[in-house]
This record gives sequence, structure tokens and C-alpha cells, in this order.
Amino acid sequence: MSTHIKLSSFLALAFLLPAAAFGTPHSAKPTFDHSGFVSWCCVKTLYPDVCYSTLSRHANATLDDPARLARIAVQVSLKQVQSFAANLTCLSRNATGATQSALADCIESMSGAACAMRDSLEKMRAVALGRAGQGFAAAMNDVQTWMSAALTSEETCSNGFEDVGDGRSNVETEVRHGVDLAWMVTSNALALINYSVNDHANL
Ligand SMILES: *[C@@H]1O[C@H](CO)[C@@H](O)[C@H](O)[C@H]1NC(C)=O
Ligand SMILES: *[C@@H]1O[C@H](CO)[C@@H](O)[C@H](O)[C@H]1NC(C)=O
Ligand SMILES: *[C@@H]1O[C@H](CO)[C@@H](O)[C@H](O)[C@H]1NC(C)=O
Ligand SMILES: *[C@@H]1O[C@H](CO)[C@@H](O)[C@H](O)[C@H]1NC(C)=O
Repeated sequence: MSTHIKLSSFLALAFLLPAAAFGTPHSAKPTFDHSGFVSWCCVKTLYPDVCYSTLSRHANATLDDPARLARIAVQVSLKQVQSFAANLTCLSRNATGATQSALADCIESMSGAACAMRDSLEKMRAVALGRAGQGFAAAMNDVQTWMSAALTSEETCSNGFEDVGDGRSNVETEVRHGVDLAWMVTSNALALINYSVNDHANL
């Protein structure tokens, strides 16, 4: 009984303190460090090191909530893909022939992935606000489908380079590296979405 009371007052504090800090900017800051929660969740992804290195700086914004962490992960993945697409656009300015056309295809694949992530983020926010207009399971199933589609688009990008050059040019190396990183970050976001869905089911 007393454990239960302690736990529930801890939870109440965990939820109220950040809000209080927002309302009164001059009051003491909350002193919870949420990086332990992030590393605990990252263990459930395929690339835990990439997960922690890309998400730990956002740890405090998660408030130890799997759904918040999943939304942050999708946001981070979207930014990663957008920044990679910008690099591809720069690379394509000097490219010619088959390399240029592979880069153009890759930019298109990355834009498709970015759209799927933007749609996912929008729906996850609607779910969080209770405004998805459909049940939790159906809404999150759409999100899982779109994020899987984003992964497939990203794969398409490196496939386009298989027939170009010897695989060792600077452009190819940079593209491969960028695709790999985007793929790992997106795969991790999907794993964290899956975890948040399972967590919700177990409430
Ligand atoms: C999170 O908050 C804790 C406690 O206020 C602080 O020590 C830590 O530096 C913050 N972490 C990040 C990544 O901002
Ligand atoms: C974009 O290019 C810069 C400069 O080459 C590099 O440092 C950065 O990691 C690249 N970013 C992505 C997302 O590929
Ligand atoms: C494109 O070529 C110019 C001139 O050779 C060079 O200065 C620039 O760094 C190249 N840009 C990229 C993205 O490779
Ligand atoms: C997430 O769940 C989906 C749907 O159940 C599944 O297809 C996918 O492989 C899972 N992905 C990861 C990274 O856990």
C-alpha cells in the first residue's frame, strides 16, 4: 500500500514538474535525468548505439514515455533523411551520366521516405491528442505501415547505385554511408514505435 502511494506520488511529480517549470520560468528546474530510460528503450532496437547517440540529447523531452520517445525518434529520422537529401542535391550538381541519374532517383526515394515520416508524425501527434479519428490500434498500424514503406524507399536508393561505377568513388561511398545511417535511424524509430504500441497494449 505505501509503495503504491509512493509510486503514484512520484508519477504525479514526474508529470507535474516539467509543466510547472514551463509555467514559471524562474522556478527551480526539474532534476530528473531521463537518459536511463532512453538507453533502456534503445536496447530494444536493432542498432542500440546509433539509437543512443541520436536520441540521448532529447532524453529529457521523453518524460520516460515510450510514445513520446517514438515521436522524437521519427522526428530525428525525418531530419536525418532531409539532411541527407540536401547532401545528395549538392552531390548531383557535379555529377554526370549514370551517377547523376542514380542520384536523382535517390533524392526521389529519400523524399518519399520523408513524406511517409511526416504523415507518421502527424498521425502520432493526433493519437496523442486523442484526435486521430480512429482507434489506437488502427492508427498505429497505419504508422507502422508507413514507416516500413519509408525503409523500403531508403533501400531503393542504394539499389540504384549497384549498376554505377566500381562502388569505390567518393560519391558512392558518401551515398552508401548516408543511406546506411538513414536506414538505421529509421529502423530504430520503427522499433520504438513497435515498443510504444506493445507498451500501450500492456497498460
Ligand atoms: C536532463 O536533466 C538533468 C536534470 O536536470 C540534467 O542533469 C541533464 O543534463 C539533462 N539532460 C539533457 C540531455 O539535457
Ligand atoms: C552531409 O555532408 C556533410 C559534409 O560532407 C557530412 O559531414 C554530413 O555527415 C552529411 N550528412 C548526411 C546526413 O549525410
Ligand atoms: C563541384 O565542383 C566544384 C568545382 O570543381 C568544386 O569546387 C565543388 O566542391 C564540387 N561540389 C561537390 C558537391 O562535389
Ligand atoms: C515493427 O513491427 C512491424 C509490424 O508488426 C514489423 O513488420 C517490423 O518488422 C517491426 N520492426 C522492428 C524494427 O521492430
